Amino acid sequence: MAKEPDLMEKLVSLCKRRGFIFQSSEVYGGLNALWDYGPMGVELKRNIKDFWWESMTQLRDDIEGVDAAIIMHPKVWEASGHVQNFTDPLVDCKKCKMRFRADQVEGKKCPNCGGELTEARLFNLMFKTHLGPVEDEASIAYLRPETAQGIYVNFLNVLGPSRQKIPFGIAQIGKAFRNEISPGNFIFRSREFEQMEMQFFIHPKEDAKWLEYWRDERFNWYINLGVKKENLKLHQHEHKELAHYAKMAFDIEYNFPFGWKEIEGIHNRTDFDLSQHSKFSGKDLTYFDDATKERFIPYIIETSAGVDRSMLVFLVDAYHEEEVKGEKRVVLKLSPKIAPVKVAVLPLVNRENMPEVATKIFHDLKKHFKCFYDDGGAIGRRYRRQDEIGTPYGLTVDSQTLQDGTVTLRDRDSMEQIRVNTSQLVEVIKKKLGS
Ligand code: GAP
Repeated sequence: MAKEPDLMEKLVSLCKRRGFIFQSSEVYGGLNALWDYGPMGVELKRNIKDFWWESMTQLRDDIEGVDAAIIMHPKVWEASGHVQNFTDPLVDCKKCKMRFRADQVEGKKCPNCGGELTEARLFNLMFKTHLGPVEDEASIAYLRPETAQGIYVNFLNVLGPSRQKIPFGIAQIGKAFRNEISPGNFIFRSREFEQMEMQFFIHPKEDAKWLEYWRDERFNWYINLGVKKENLKLHQHEHKELAHYAKMAFDIEYNFPFGWKEIEGIHNRTDFDLSQHSKFSGKDLTYFDDATKERFIPYIIETSAGVDRSMLVFLVDAYHEEEVKGEKRVVLKLSPKIAPVKVAVLPLVNRENMPEVATKIFHDLKKHFKCFYDDGGAIGRRYRRQDEIGTPYGLTVDSQTLQDGTVTLRDRDSMEQIRVNTSQLVEVIKKKLGS
């Protein structure tokens, strides 16, 4: 489907209407670049994270998980380079006091009031706080701007108990915080978000091979979850684009209505991180290879994805409008694997024992799948509501159910209906969902 300019507006409105995403603290007028996830949003987000976690840890023998604290020792951020380098240049208007990113202002005049602008100053994007009751320089701590550092500092802690050998990886999902100067595009760039990061520790000689491997694995992950291939592309960083820690990097980009943008980064971080933490902590973070009797600082290949940003990808990619019998149908064609609700259970009418039979089926099915029971309004309206949240299957109890024990099962995308015996529902739906 062509990307219409107002697709984002439609999506934001659907997300609010159907309980996916709300503005943070909305009753107080909202807070910029902070979002709350509602009943459908939280399910979708959880499914995305579960699939990532499963693909990284459960289906592989060479990746372990961790869940590190959000607030880390302040020296971590000195070692990582964030205190020094994690900055944006800012200019202030001397007249109206508004603040802008220097690279987004043309000329020397304020875009708001035409006033004179100050010289650019560097602004650090990390949120600061204080540990303990005294608010002085010594108690400064930061909310982590990336989850990666919690993995590096735990390299030896994980290596020992897991008895892994290089090459192996450590995965983590968690919140990250950045005081972004120009956030925007809904949940694309916010100040509080979640990352799914995996750091793969390797022998330095194998860096090219593993970078390529993870680039392809991660690209295919989005396709396996239903994202259209033509909306994804790889962008290799030119030398001047590379982060201070990277030797080579690829971005996976998505064709958003607001342009091609990065959704995930795959970096060859060399031995930068472990060397830095070794230097700043005074601890030996080398690895000893028993087989070759070689001691070295491992190189790291990082895969770093945003949970919220990939959720936006799945939503944009799935949004679909069509005309059915002269009426507009909006449908989220989400992969059934991540759809918030798998089956909607609907009695055709609220009489003749249909609600009772449907309620029983609902209680049986929800032991197996996330289900939703709806008996409010005309059946067509109920189907449309489910289409809008991307429910792959709608199950209807009608008068025939009362005679022969079969129900109709409606496919979200084709809208075709088949009759299935109640006793075979779990099996049939499992097969359709591929689970
Ligand atoms: N550890 C490497 C790292 O953090 P990054 O490119 O700064 O690299 C990785 O971030 C991913 O995190 C991005 O590709 C994006 O998906 C997500 N991300 C970064 N900043 C974000 C923000 N302000 N809001 C939402 N997601 C963000």
